[in-house]
Amino acid sequence: MERFKLTDDGVIDQEKEEAIASSSRDNPNWNEYLDWHSQGTGPSFFEKCKHKLSYAVWGQHKRLVELYSKKVHAGISRDSEFIKNDLKTGVLSSSDLQILLDCVEKAPLMPRVASDHIPGYYFDKNFSKLEAGWAEHFRYFDLRGESESIQKVFLNLVPEIRACFGHDFRIVNFNCWGMQPSSAGFGANAWHTDGFPPGIYKVLIYLTPPGRERGSSEVLLPDGSSKMVEGPAGTWVLFNATTLYHRGVPAISGERTIMNVTVVPAFKGAMLPVFAGLNANFPWFPWSVPLPSQL
Ligand SMILES: [Fe+2]
Repeated sequence: MERFKLTDDGVIDQEKEEAIASSSRDNPNWNEYLDWHSQGTGPSFFEKCKHKLSYAVWGQHKRLVELYSKKVHAGISRDSEFIKNDLKTGVLSSSDLQILLDCVEKAPLMPRVASDHIPGYYFDKNFSKLEAGWAEHFRYFDLRGESESIQKVFLNLVPEIRACFGHDFRIVNFNCWGMQPSSAGFGANAWHTDGFPPGIYKVLIYLTPPGRERGSSEVLLPDGSSKMVEGPAGTWVLFNATTLYHRGVPAISGERTIMNVTVVPAFKGAMLPVFAGLNANFPWFPWSVPLPSQL
């Protein structure tokens, strides 16, 4: 999630930003959106250059992976829902859901602080101004001791997600949080895009049943319609968080709990999660991601 929005070319997309802001003015959370969005400073010239370079490199990386996969996965049957909407929903098996619930049950809590990001990842330099707000509305689960269980569950998702992309992918960031009803309109619960470089996608796994009652996410689809993610606990959604505007929807009462997973195109899949930190956004370059042997 970024203060400033970038197009696929790494240019600040003020026009699109203004369009979504205009359409949100009837939203009761508009003031909170403004408050959130106006905090902090914009990118420096050096940061803009680094973003442009990052976008160019990830774009080329994606093209190379696609080219390579045309041979390796030549017979793959692509997912039609994903091709149409850049979004795909599915549901974990009950045994995989139970594995994840068990992980969260025994996980300690961890604070979301500005310094929590590993090297090589873009992070929010203005984050400290929002620390108190995040602490008030959210609680974060420390799953760093549960890598193998998470990997096991994700390995079962590989065929469905590979059918969406048409190529392999790897996890480059993983975190898990509970969101309170008081969080309406705060941070990522206002309409926004994530501003990732090309090819980088989000997978959200809902550990509470997503919907208006128990909390969910709302996504604006390419045809202009709005989709509220709904289903049983264990529902997941894969979507392009850079091109599709979206927002978190808190529960009416109780906590909405999700796992938030960032994935990138890869020549060889890797489902061992990278815990890049709660203030880590995306890896600047493909070589910025720690190797599985370093995890
Ligand atoms: Fe987002």
